Amino acid sequence: MRIIVTGAAGMLGSVLIPVLEREHQVSGLTRKDCDLCDEHAVREIFTRQRPDAVIHLAAFTNVDACELEPEKAKAGNELTTFNVAQAARHVGAAMLYISTDYVFDGRLNRPYAEDDLPCPLSVYGRTKVQGEKHVQEILDRHFIVRTSWLFGPNGKNFVSTILRLAGERPEIRVVNDQQGAPTYTRHLAQALTQLLTTEEYGIFHLTGTGNCSWFEFAKKIVAARGLSQVQVIPISSAEFGRPAPRPAYSVLANRRATSLGIAPLPPWEKGLEDYLGELCGIVGGQV
Ligand SMILES: NC(=O)c1ccc[n+]([C@@H]2O[C@H](COP(=O)([O-])OP(=O)(O)OC[C@H]3O[C@@H](n4cnc5c(N)ncnc54)[C@H](OP(=O)(O)O)[C@@H]3O)[C@@H](O)[C@H]2O)c1
Repeated sequence: MRIIVTGAAGMLGSVLIPVLEREHQVSGLTRKDCDLCDEHAVREIFTRQRPDAVIHLAAFTNVDACELEPEKAKAGNELTTFNVAQAARHVGAAMLYISTDYVFDGRLNRPYAEDDLPCPLSVYGRTKVQGEKHVQEILDRHFIVRTSWLFGPNGKNFVSTILRLAGERPEIRVVNDQQGAPTYTRHLAQALTQLLTTEEYGIFHLTGTGNCSWFEFAKKIVAARGLSQVQVIPISSAEFGRPAPRPAYSVLANRRATSLGIAPLPPWEKGLEDYLGELCGIVGGQV
C-alpha cells in the first residue's frame, strides 16, 4: 500500500513509520512538509501522492495548553483532521485516525467499550471527539483508534519526565486518583500495522494491557531504575492543580481488535521494561 503518515516527527509517528516501511511504501509528513491547517496544501500533496491510506497522527497534544488556547486546539485537532479526511476522500484513500481515552469523562468505573458514548471533560478531549466526528462523516472507510498514556522514544512523555525529576529531586509528588493504561508506542505500532490491512472499519481501543495510577506508574519507573533514594509521594489531582481536568478512570476495553485476532498489546509493565532497556541502549533505535 502507499501510505501517508501525518505527525511523522512526533512520538508515535517516529516509531510507526519504520514498522510500516517493512511492508508498505510510506510517506511521512512533518510540519515542515505541510501545515495541515492549510486545506489546499493538504489536497495538493494527496493528489500528487495518491495514497491508498492515511494515518493521521498530527495533533495539538499538550492537554493543558489546549485548555488555555482553545482556538489553537480546534485548529490543531479539528481543522487538521477535517482537511486530511477531505483530501483522503478526494483520492479514495482509507483513513486511520488516532484518538484518545480523554474522550471519556472517567465516571463509569469500568473499562470503556468502543460503543460507549464520548463525554469529554477537557478542550483537548472535545476537539479530539470533533475530529472523530469529521472522520465518521466524511469517510466510510475509516478506523478510529483510541489509545492512552503513550510513552516511547522521540517525545516528551511521563517516563522521561519521571526519570528527569528523579535525577533532580529527593521526592516527587504524583497524582494517585487517575487510573489509565500506559501504552508503549512500539507495541501500539505493531497492532496499528495489523489493523490497517483489515477492512474492519469503525472504532477500536488499543492500549497496553492492565492499568495503574500515575503514582503507581512512577513508583514502577523509579524502582526499575533502582532509584530507592527517591521518594514518590501520592497526591490528588486537586492538589496537583493542572488547567485541564482529566478523567479519573479512563481504562479502555480492547474488545474489537481482539475479536479480529489482533493479539492484545503486552502488559504496560513489559512496555516499560522494553523502553527502559531501549534508553540503556539494550535494544537498538534512536532514543
Ligand atoms: N501522547 C499521548 O499520551 C497520547 C495519548 C492518546 C492519544 N494520543 C494521540 O496520538 C497521536 C500521536 O501523539 P504523539 O504523542 O505522537 O504526538 P506528538 O509527539 O505531539 O506529535 C504530533 C506531531 O504533529 C505535528 N503537528 C501538529 N499540528 C500540526 C499541523 N497543523 N501541521 C502539521 N503537523 C502538525 C506536531 O508538530 P509540532 O511539534 O511542530 O507541533 C508533532 O510533530 C495524536 O493524535 C494524539 O492525540 C496521544
